[in-house]
Amino acid sequence: MNPKSMGVVGAGIMGSGIAQVAAQSGLEVVVVDADEKRAKSAVDQIGLALGRLVAKEKISQADRDAAVSRLKVGKGLDDLAVLEFVVEAATERLDVKVDLFAKLDRILAPDVTLASNTSSISITRLGAATKRPDKVIGMHFMNPVPVMKLVEVVRGLATSDATVDEVVGLARRFGKTTVSTKDLPGFLVNRVLMPMINEGIYALMEGLGSPEEIDTAMRLGTNQPMGPLALADLIGLDTCLSIMEVLHTTFGDPKYRPCPILRHYVDAGWHGKKSGRGFYTYQ
Ligand code: CAA
Repeated sequence: MNPKSMGVVGAGIMGSGIAQVAAQSGLEVVVVDADEKRAKSAVDQIGLALGRLVAKEKISQADRDAAVSRLKVGKGLDDLAVLEFVVEAATERLDVKVDLFAKLDRILAPDVTLASNTSSISITRLGAATKRPDKVIGMHFMNPVPVMKLVEVVRGLATSDATVDEVVGLARRFGKTTVSTKDLPGFLVNRVLMPMINEGIYALMEGLGSPEEIDTAMRLGTNQPMGPLALADLIGLDTCLSIMEVLHTTFGDPKYRPCPILRHYVDAGWHGKKSGRGFYTYQ
């Protein structure tokens, strides 16, 4: 199927970014969130972000207005019933996602693909919560979604070739490059990225350098756009911790043990940029 409409479940940073690129690519988009006000605020913010692109002469006013007109706020999951594709970008918790997938499976037409933007939860497990495991797939966007070029396509044990082809085609329509990978914890990007970030946090704990020194060393020494601690703040320290926990628990290998400082910061509510404080402070 070449979908013309898409539901986005979850209006956080990732859900908003996904809704933006989908609307810009011509899809009719409905955003739902457990908190309807959050969904409304996300759609308003997308309008502002697209306005900034107009000011920078990256898109025309007409394109901005057309994209905004394609974005709607849904009151609940039932408002997604008529849509042709759904991507879930809700809280990164297995119980939340399993519940959502079971509910969406009952609501959506049987031929609709159900994708998850999860960064570490098993796609096979989410597929098993539905009666359409062949149509359940990982469609993992990177943060910030409008800027980052990659979509990681994750194939669960039962995901069909047709579903993979559909998601690869859709990601291309969004202007993204895809890499297909296996349903193993962390998939490909986070399997490599998160241990590096976690090691950066160990370097801080062991006093190898200040956050600025660690980030400068990695930015200028390895040509990364951001150092590991600034990137952890951008991703969200709660998300980084939950990914490290999935890697640690599933593989049982001590090399994935989350750094105690990471856990400490999350316990303190210092979740990075989104909460105003992480390894750095934000206005
Ligand atoms: N939304 C939309 N656009 C954004 C943006 C955002 N949140 N942040 C920056 N941009 C745009 C800016 O508007 C700017 O656009 P123009 O060139 O058109 O003016 C462009 O990106 C560059 O931004 P800046 O000049 O402000 O800053 P920068 O050059 O340092 O780039 C960055 C910012 C794109 C975030 C860059 O630092 C970067 O690529 N960092 C690494 C990000 C990364 O690795 N993301 C993946 C994380 S892993 C993940 O997401 C998976 C997971 O499961 C955890």
